[in-house]
Amino acid sequence: MPKIAFLACPITLPTSPTRRSDAFEHDLLLAALKAGLAGRADLIDLDWRAPLEELAGFDLAYLGTPWDYTDAKDEFLERLEAIAAAGVIVCNPVEVIRWNSDKLYLRELERRGASSIPTLWPESAGPSDVLAAFDHFGADRVVVKRRVGAGAIGQDSFSRTAPPPADWRIEQPAMIQPFLPAIQSEGEHSFIFVDGRFSHALIKQASHGDYRIQSLYGGIERAVEPAAADLAAAQGIMAMLPFAQPPLYARIDMVRLDGGALAVIEAELIEPYLYPEQGEKFGQMLADAMLAALAKHN
Ligand SMILES: Nc1ncnc2c1ncn2[C@@H]1O[C@H](COP(=O)(O)OP(=O)(O)O)[C@@H](O)[C@H]1O
Ligand SMILES: [Mg+2]
Repeated sequence: MPKIAFLACPITLPTSPTRRSDAFEHDLLLAALKAGLAGRADLIDLDWRAPLEELAGFDLAYLGTPWDYTDAKDEFLERLEAIAAAGVIVCNPVEVIRWNSDKLYLRELERRGASSIPTLWPESAGPSDVLAAFDHFGADRVVVKRRVGAGAIGQDSFSRTAPPPADWRIEQPAMIQPFLPAIQSEGEHSFIFVDGRFSHALIKQASHGDYRIQSLYGGIERAVEPAAADLAAAQGIMAMLPFAQPPLYARIDMVRLDGGALAVIEAELIEPYLYPEQGEKFGQMLADAMLAALAKHN
């Protein structure tokens, strides 16, 4: 029986004292995959920092909920390389993870023709960068985020009437974008793909007064049947990914620009939450894709 590792971390593992309040996503994702596997493989969730000997004992490692990698990106990539070198299939492949771990990849997608959000890319950010961004974009409100980041952590939004305090800084590569109001009206679209095939779509909305759609901040999501043009936009992003094979899993996050087109906000290929509750066939699709990858490898 194949052994599949569901890589997690202390903020997501069920018995961990430091488990985060939104780690129920870990349980839902694990349960969907387990149901999809239907006894065809052993599935075990464990810390990505577990001893290498232990990790090397698996046939496939799925990046389930290793949410803390954003503060230890190099260590994480090294660990994945080591697991892969031990003969374990890492999903998504390390090459994909490396490319996707710095949001500068958005610039590459833009060059390949993706509809994207105008972005400034300072090596670090302070109040003067934010003030300059208001003028550059002709915008009254901007969002500042880390180039290596997830879950809106370390992210800020400022307006001309509520600018950053004098001592505010992001001491790492950052990105500044105009604030897109469609996030608060329509919400953020997510399109889930397994092995390059569309699985399901949803719209995520922030709780009243917030603009971050993550469940940690009270965001909620609902399944949607995407309009043909919207699905085509997401499929277009999938086709622009610079890899020979489609990734095992992908979540394309999009937001509507004033002109009506969906722009890519992120192409999540590392450890996206894949909203199993909104995708009836999703668990089965993911399980089948993993078993197919295992069969091909052997
Ligand atoms: N330009 C923007 N305009 C409005 N809201 C934004 C913008 N960029 C990000 N957000 C909000 O912040 C959240 C987190 O940003 P995102 O780019 O998805 O980074 P990550 O999910 O990796 O932290 C988004 O889901 C959205 O709710
Ligand atoms: Mg996001």
